[in-house]
Amino acid sequence: MSEDIRARFFPMSLPAGVIGQWVIRSEATADIQELNAQIFRSAELRLFQVPPERQSGVQHLKQGYVPAQPECVVFYSDARLPVGWFYSYREDATTAFIDTVGFLPSYRGRGLYSAFLPKYLAYVAALGIERVTTSHHPNNRAIMIAELKVGFNVVGLELHESHGPLIKMAYFMHADRRAGFEQAFSMAPDPTAGIKR
Ligand SMILES: CC(C)(COP(=O)(O)OP(=O)(O)OC[C@H]1O[C@@H](n2cnc3c(N)ncnc32)[C@H](O)[C@@H]1OP(=O)(O)O)[C@@H](O)C(=O)NCCC(=O)NCCS
Repeated sequence: MSEDIRARFFPMSLPAGVIGQWVIRSEATADIQELNAQIFRSAELRLFQVPPERQSGVQHLKQGYVPAQPECVVFYSDARLPVGWFYSYREDATTAFIDTVGFLPSYRGRGLYSAFLPKYLAYVAALGIERVTTSHHPNNRAIMIAELKVGFNVVGLELHESHGPLIKMAYFMHADRRAGFEQAFSMAPDPTAGIKR
């Protein structure tokens, strides 16, 4: 059944002739590794690296670990070259967590994520997902602008031992969930609700 729903959304046409292709992550490892080397440069990220003597053990654990309901999309140019990728999985029974999204530098700022995001949200809504969460470094304006524009809210601040501060964002599929959020945060109803954008 989820395959039928997926077939309604993928392959996905995006701006600049880019196509989003749903893939099984382990079958797209080469493309993803090549993309990561250009998008998420480990020296720039300054993330903790497992030392060489523990690498084989960690690799073994990684091979045996598949998060629940992973959704992996590789974006291909019109010349069939990989230009970006996306990865989400279920954080809990009803929540999809967006773990990764990135495009090669020459494909950024061209509206690709803004075009992909509403289609992804429609896809996971069709799967029955109630919330979509994600977290970002506070200086990553492009990603947060795209998410705020489709209706994500800022719902928290994480202090991560490796990433540092992360802004937690959440998208609620249903109006009652959004109302619950507003109540929990003791906020007045969204003052921008009803404004045509
Ligand atoms: C973050 C990223 C995925 C966004 O995708 P994108 O396709 O480049 O985003 P879009 O072109 O849809 O732009 C989204 C919005 O941010 C704006 N924007 C783009 N780059 C920006 C920048 N550097 N600073 C401020 N705003 C920016 C766009 O103008 C757009 O707003 P608009 O709708 O008002 O025009 C992409 O830039 C990227 O791959 N970055 C590197 C990897 C990364 O940081 N991934 C996220 C963490 S996993």
